[in-house]
Amino acid sequence: MRHIHIIGIGTGNPEHLTVQAINAMNAADMVFIPTKGAAKADLAEIRRDICDRYLTREGISIVEFEVPKRAAPERNYVQTVDDWHAAIASLYEGLIGDLPESGAGAFLVWGDPSLYDSTIRIIERVRDAGIVAFDYSVVPGITSIQALAASHRIPINLVGKPVEITTGRRLAETGLTQASTVVMLDGEQAFSTIAEPDAEIFWGAYLGTEHEVIRAGRLGDIADDIVRLRAEERARHGWIMDIYLLRKGRDFEA
Ligand SMILES: C[S@@+](CC[C@H](N)C(=O)[O-])C[C@H]1O[C@@H](n2cnc3c(N)ncnc32)[C@H](O)[C@@H]1O
Repeated sequence: MRHIHIIGIGTGNPEHLTVQAINAMNAADMVFIPTKGAAKADLAEIRRDICDRYLTREGISIVEFEVPKRAAPERNYVQTVDDWHAAIASLYEGLIGDLPESGAGAFLVWGDPSLYDSTIRIIERVRDAGIVAFDYSVVPGITSIQALAASHRIPINLVGKPVEITTGRRLAETGLTQASTVVMLDGEQAFSTIAEPDAEIFWGAYLGTEHEVIRAGRLGDIADDIVRLRAEERARHGWIMDIYLLRKGRDFEA
């Protein structure tokens, strides 16, 4: 039976690759790389670099594919995402169908496949469709949360306190509800809209890459600087990926 490796590759630093990830890549007959768009072009380049560095077995093909674009969520967000996943699933079905009967393929997933990534659910969808038979396994990767914490040299949680992981959209709706809140996928800089001037922010963009930039401080003092810096960086590169931790309180505070 065909086998698919869903491999977490970390967030831009080729040294994030684990030995398990390298071994899984080398067990594949085909490595699939998504392309298209300014961000995708840079991220595809990082994946190519990873293949150059770590593929040591002869005969592995690198197959680049264009990810279908997601429609603007006109009617209903859930329906739009579902349609988009269906389009990607049909593409994956073709890629997997091109593998030899007992061959293996590898999808190189940004960060870790379990965190705000749909590769696993789309692969499940392809399997459930039952047109190509295959099995799959998942190799964990370093997430952008870990990259952020390492660059700022901080633990994510306060002692004995919970951590929330959420999106910019949700933060704007709910405000800060936990001592530590990690915010991802925030195109609207929700941190600058919440009334928490005394919270601390630990922000980072392009983490792990040569363009990495980080800032930390009291939200009321540096929110505007981050908004400005983010706009400059985005204009310079044509895309941006950023993440931040918002923290209220101190270790050992009641
Ligand atoms: C679709 S999610 C993928 C997350 C990924 N699976 C992970 O484990 O980090 C993309 C979001 O992750 C965060 N992100 C991923 N890579 C990043 C990086 N190198 N620097 C800063 N943020 C990053 C950003 O919040 C971005 O909007």
